[in-house]
Amino acid sequence: MQTLIKNIKELVQVETGRQKLRAQGKEMAQMETVKDAYLLVEDGKIKAFGPMSEWKAKSGERRVEKEVDATGRLVFPTFCDSHTHLVYANSREHEFVDKIRGLSYEEIAKRGGGILNSAKATAAASEQELYDMGRQRLEEAMRLGTGAIEIKSGYGLTTESELKLLRVIRRLKENSPLTIKSNFLGAHGIPMEYRGHQEDYVDLVINEMIPRVADEGLADFIDVFCDQGFFTVDDTARILEAGIKHGMRPKIHANEMAVSGGVQVGVKYNAISVDHLEQMGDAEIECLKGTDTMPTILPGCAFFLNLPLSPARRMVEAGLPVAMASDYNPGTSPSCNMQLILSMACIRYRLTPEEALNATTLNTAYAMDVSHELGTIAVGKKANFYITKPIASYEYMPYSYGENKVERVFLNGVEM
Ligand code: NIG
Ligand code: FE
Repeated sequence: MQTLIKNIKELVQVETGRQKLRAQGKEMAQMETVKDAYLLVEDGKIKAFGPMSEWKAKSGERRVEKEVDATGRLVFPTFCDSHTHLVYANSREHEFVDKIRGLSYEEIAKRGGGILNSAKATAAASEQELYDMGRQRLEEAMRLGTGAIEIKSGYGLTTESELKLLRVIRRLKENSPLTIKSNFLGAHGIPMEYRGHQEDYVDLVINEMIPRVADEGLADFIDVFCDQGFFTVDDTARILEAGIKHGMRPKIHANEMAVSGGVQVGVKYNAISVDHLEQMGDAEIECLKGTDTMPTILPGCAFFLNLPLSPARRMVEAGLPVAMASDYNPGTSPSCNMQLILSMACIRYRLTPEEALNATTLNTAYAMDVSHELGTIAVGKKANFYITKPIASYEYMPYSYGENKVERVFLNGVEM
């Protein structure tokens, strides 16, 4: 089955030469486009693209099974959202109000709120309820232009509850048109009964949870919330080693609350990404150079918690790649809107539109290990793209924040 998108005002973020797995340093500012373009899809993959004049010359204007006229509209690859906690049971707007009144995220967590609050609600929810909520949220993310998403467990914090979350994620993987990767985050919070002897909880994660998760093949990645007030560098190292032994690649939370050693331990265990990075010194930037680890910034979380901004520009200027994801979760970033992340990348972190697009598509695809098949418009990649409403230019995408500029979404070549 072939689908032709024709008369595209501008086809954005194409790759014509050798396909890159990620963009770093100066490469982040490079982004190719084709004006007055066509895009041909066959059997779910990108078959060809180029100027309309080329299509007319080579096709003799032959008609294909499905044609879409994109006059006045731009086409972009869908966003890849490489860091979410999309499967959760309850919203947490009461804590939001507590924060406005002056409590910090860490203080709420210490009192047993925060992640533990979500864990209680998750334990009470059935697998079907969690699945239905997950489906709805995925639909919302897709309508905003997201075509691939990573989803973490971490609101279970007991073996059964963590397995329940991961089984929900597996069902979403099997039944959703989005490309989904799963991440086991048993070490997300320290349950009340383990306070003061958290190494026993770490033992539970290592000796009971990880083997069960691996037995059922439930996780692509292993995550730890390595930060002040949560898991230590030693806890993290032990958990990552166990995860690696069971075939899971590390992808961790680091340096949100403090310069915690999280970046270093992530790099040491060849994490595919280290995420958050609100607290970054020169040593952290140095340590990421020349590694396979993608530094990932979560602008929604910094916005929602009023945290310091990660030094994105300094990282790019140091030659590093930078990715930006939503961190969609009920406690620190209750939005899956990657268009908003794109805007924040430019407005708050001073990335150019080209850099911001690379940060939210190709580099996030890398951070979830799918950049060989997603993240740009390239021949042979999955045909995951969106057509905008009539807009003036690609710079309008980050410029006009808060408005949904996506009109039609195609995943695997099929209109959603
Ligand atoms: O990425 N920082 C740790 N985990 C999540 C927040 C989880 C929550 O508060 O529910 C995050 O921000
Ligand atoms: Fe997170």
